[in-house]
Amino acid sequence: MADKKARLTVDGLEGEIELPVYSGTEGPDVIDVRPLTGQGLFTYDPGFVSTAACESKLTYIDGGKGILLHGGYPIEQLANHSDYLEVCYLLLNGELPTPEEKEEFVNIVSNHTMVHEQMSHFFNGFRRDAHPMAIMVACVGALSAFYHDSLDINDAHHREVCAYRLIAKMPTLAAMCYKYSIGQPFMYPRNELSYAENFLHMMFATPCGEYKVSPTLARAMDKIFVLHADHEQNASTSTVRLAGSSGANPFACIAAGIAALWGPAHGGANEAVLVMLEEIGDEANIPEFIERAKDPNDPFRLMGFGHRVYRNFDPRAKVMKQTCDEVLAELGIENDPLLKIAKRLEQIALEDDYFVERKLYPNVDFYSGIILKAIGIPTSMFTVIFALSRTIGWISHWNEFHSSPNKIGRPRQLYTGPKFRDYPSK
Ligand code: CMC
Repeated sequence: MADKKARLTVDGLEGEIELPVYSGTEGPDVIDVRPLTGQGLFTYDPGFVSTAACESKLTYIDGGKGILLHGGYPIEQLANHSDYLEVCYLLLNGELPTPEEKEEFVNIVSNHTMVHEQMSHFFNGFRRDAHPMAIMVACVGALSAFYHDSLDINDAHHREVCAYRLIAKMPTLAAMCYKYSIGQPFMYPRNELSYAENFLHMMFATPCGEYKVSPTLARAMDKIFVLHADHEQNASTSTVRLAGSSGANPFACIAAGIAALWGPAHGGANEAVLVMLEEIGDEANIPEFIERAKDPNDPFRLMGFGHRVYRNFDPRAKVMKQTCDEVLAELGIENDPLLKIAKRLEQIALEDDYFVERKLYPNVDFYSGIILKAIGIPTSMFTVIFALSRTIGWISHWNEFHSSPNKIGRPRQLYTGPKFRDYPSK
C-alpha cells in the first residue's frame, strides 16, 4: 500500500528510521508514523494541525483552493441541485440514490420522525430558559435508553437503523426545544411533508390554526441543512469517532458530538456572529471591532471569520451569501440592517492587511445566522440547526469507523510535569 518512503534521522539514534508514505485519491500524502513507537518516539501535534487521524472516503476538502466534495461531488452543485435527504443517502452509502432508492430512503426516514412519548416528559425537568443545546445534549444521549433493539454496533443493520432514527428524530427534538422555550405545545411530525417543511411545521405551527409552510423558507432551510451536512474530521466529528472507538452506543456518541459543536470556535459561531453583528449595531462602529479583533491582548475575534482548513474562501460561505440575498429578496426584507453591517464588515476585513496576511475569510457561519433570523428562528437555536444538519456527517463517520477493522483512539502526550518523586514521609 505504501507508494513511497520517508526517512528520518534523530540525534542520538543510530541510522535512519524508514516510514511508509501513503497517497489518497486527493490531497497531501501521509507519513505513517506508527513505527516510531518502537523506537521510543512519539509525534507531537497539538490541535491535530498536521495529523491524519483516520482513512475516510466520505468528504474531501482542499483548503487552499476552497473545494469541498461529498462523495466527489462539489458542495455548490449539491446545494443547488440536490436536497438534504439525497446528500444524507450519499454520505451514508457513498453514491447518489436512484429515484427508487431515494423514494425508499425518504419513506424510511419519514417513518422514524416521532420520538418515544416518554421523551416529552424529560423537557419538564429543564428551565424554560435553558439553552436548547443543553437540552439537545441530554435528549440525544437519552435516546439510547429507548432503542435497545438497534444498539449492536457490530451489526451493520443495527447501525443503519440508528442512522435512520437519528436523521429522522433530530428535527423533532430540535423543534421540541424551541416549543418548550416559548411555552407552546409540541407539534407532532407530519410525514407527508418534506424534511425541511416538516421541521418548519414542527417549529412554527400550533394546534390552533393552519400553518402553510413557505416554499421559499423550506428551500432556504434545506440548503442550510445541505451546507452543514459534513466537513470531514472537524472537532465534533473527531469527537464522535473517538467516543465511538470505545464501543459507546451511537446516541451517546452523537451527544458527545453535539457537546463539541457547541463551542463558539466551532458550531457555536453562528449564534456568536449574530450576537456580534447586533453588538456592532452600526456600520460606524465596525473599525472599533476590527481593531479589537487585531489586538493580540484582546480575546475578541471576528466571529464567522477564519478556518483551520480553508486558507482561501469557504465554498459554503459563497453559497450561503447568495442564499441570504435570495431569501431576503423573496421575503421582501429590503435593507436588512444586520446584512448591511455584515457585508460592510466583510469588505473592510478582506481589505485589511491583518486578515489578508492570515488568510482569514468569512466561513459558513458568517451569513447563515442572517438567513435563520429571516426565517424566524431565534438566535439560541442556530447551533441546534447546525447539530441537526451535521448529524448525518457524524453518524456516517461513526458508521465508516465501525465498518472496517479499528482501534480505540488513544493519543499520547509530551509530559512536562514533575519527575518521579517519593511521597514525603510524615
Ligand atoms: N478574528 C481575528 N483574528 C483571527 C480570527 C478571527 N476570527 N481567526 C484567526 N485569527 C488570527 C489568530 O489570532 C492568529 O493570529 P496570530 O498568527 O497573530 O497569532 C491567526 O489568525 C491564526 O489563527 P489560529 O487561531 O491559529 O487558527 P486556527 O486554525 O487554530 O483557528 C478558528 C480557526 C476557526 C477557530 C478561528 O479562525 C476562529 O476562532 N474563528 C472565529 C470563530 C468561527 O467563526 N468559527 C467557525 C468555524 S467554521 C464552522 C465550523 O466548521 O465549525
